[in-house]
Amino acid sequence: MLSYRHQFHAGNVADVFKHAMLTQLLVALAKKDKPFAMLDTHAGIGRYDLTHAWSQKTEEWRHGIGRVWARTDAPPALTPYLEAVRADNPDGHLKHYPGSPRIARRLMRKDDRLVLCELNKDDCAALKLLFASARHTAIHNQDGFLALKGFLPPPERRGLTFIDASFDQADEFGRITRAIKEAHTRFATGMIAVWYPLMASSAMQAFARSLQAMGLPKTLQLELSVYPEDWTEHIRGSGMIVVNPPFGLDREVPPLLDWLWRAMSPENAGGTRCEWLVPE
Ligand SMILES: C[S@@+](CC[C@H](N)C(=O)[O-])C[C@H]1O[C@@H](n2cnc3c(N)ncnc32)[C@H](O)[C@@H]1O
Repeated sequence: MLSYRHQFHAGNVADVFKHAMLTQLLVALAKKDKPFAMLDTHAGIGRYDLTHAWSQKTEEWRHGIGRVWARTDAPPALTPYLEAVRADNPDGHLKHYPGSPRIARRLMRKDDRLVLCELNKDDCAALKLLFASARHTAIHNQDGFLALKGFLPPPERRGLTFIDASFDQADEFGRITRAIKEAHTRFATGMIAVWYPLMASSAMQAFARSLQAMGLPKTLQLELSVYPEDWTEHIRGSGMIVVNPPFGLDREVPPLLDWLWRAMSPENAGGTRCEWLVPE
């Protein structure tokens, strides 16, 4: 039973963090001529209408993209992300927010291949409609965790596995931990990016330890939160594990995270992290 609908959360602080980081990975992959593949295991619908009743109900986007959209002082490295959002709002009014498939396809070149999995039947149908005429883009109504077995390694032998689970089931941290292991075992040189919500510090420490025990290659841990550690009303922030990050990401990301944090944290709560979970 799938209860999670991303429409309620599209464009929120976690999405801005996640998609700003995703664009850094895609820009790095596109620096080499050789085509690459991206597998997006939990794709969503690809583009979200922020005037939709569900977005209006939570208004989460106002604290995320709503705070970043109008700024004119963003670091240049955030331009590809902000341009992807602007491309979906050509009249200059923020109405749509692009999801990971939309952002990815925009940053990928014509021979790069995008594989999208979405388990919700209606959401998958919406995604298929949005990408009806897109080249080298395959859309599957299937479980993204199982898709790791079917689609990795990609024939290109270059690329990114992006895992953005909905965290609406028990032991989702266990599932993403196993998914990282599966993706890495099948495609050892591939980049893996996995989003997670920030939970109690004991749960986060256990997650980090289980990844460190796995024998992964160099792995970065990125986080951004805009609420204090004891915040319980909703998630206080989120993070991303990046296995095999592009060279230099550890130096490039901290100023970007710092800018995003300042833009989205008017109370100056929370903070950012960019640390090697498994050092180089
Ligand atoms: C957080 S949203 C994805 C957002 C999207 N990655 C983005 O950045 O725009 C999670 C999505 O995963 C879908 N989903 C839940 N369980 C899934 C599974 N086992 N396999 C594939 N998709 C799943 C949900 O329907 C939801 O659309």
